[in-house]
Amino acid sequence: MRIDIITVLPGMLESPFNYSIIKRAKEKGLAEIYLHNLRDYSEDKHRRVDDYSFGKDAGMVMAIQPIEKAIEKLKSEREYDEVIFTTPDGNIFSQKTANQLSLKKNLIILCGHYKGIDQRIRDHYITMEISVGDYVLTGGELAAAIIADSVVRLLPGVLSDETSALTDSFQDNLLSPPVYTRPAEYKGMKVPEILLSGNDKLIDEWKHEQAVERTRLLRPDLYRKYMGED
Ligand code: ADE
Repeated sequence: MRIDIITVLPGMLESPFNYSIIKRAKEKGLAEIYLHNLRDYSEDKHRRVDDYSFGKDAGMVMAIQPIEKAIEKLKSEREYDEVIFTTPDGNIFSQKTANQLSLKKNLIILCGHYKGIDQRIRDHYITMEISVGDYVLTGGELAAAIIADSVVRLLPGVLSDETSALTDSFQDNLLSPPVYTRPAEYKGMKVPEILLSGNDKLIDEWKHEQAVERTRLLRPDLYRKYMGED
């Protein structure tokens, strides 16, 4: 998979992809992530990428020219499955969307900034608008990092144990069961007896029950989906 991220703050995104699983995915050639500085596409002599909004509304808006040029340059080089815009008024991101995106080959993510972007970009170039939650970030960069991270880890071969993405929280609308490691007892706090029993069948049943119970208590909204009621 290839992800091209267009941003006014490429420096903000250099670090998130240079650690642990995502770093290894890049090294193994399973994911390529490229950062493009939007200012490099500006035809303004001061490399400006924003301008005053039309109408009374004060505030700066990302201009159409640099964005159109950046997207068209990338599209002239390869086909893209989606051109994603990160914005608080987009569709709420979920594991389901991450799963769907992980099946794609080439993605562009345009990071929103300022008061918004010229609506013509959204109307003519963007194929998906994504919000990472009902709160406002200073820009779309952290949202782009969340999207890329959650998608790349799903690519085949990225996680060492291929099944582990399948057992993630949310994959079947269930939260994960609790996990424990050694020692079996620490300052009087014990690991549940069943986990030490060596009986794989009973352990699996226990884990499933725990997952269902945790979901029912902590996330009644997910629980309804799990029960097929939503
Ligand atoms: N930009 C600012 N806030 C955002 C959010 N919650 N999701 C995606 N992009 C954003």
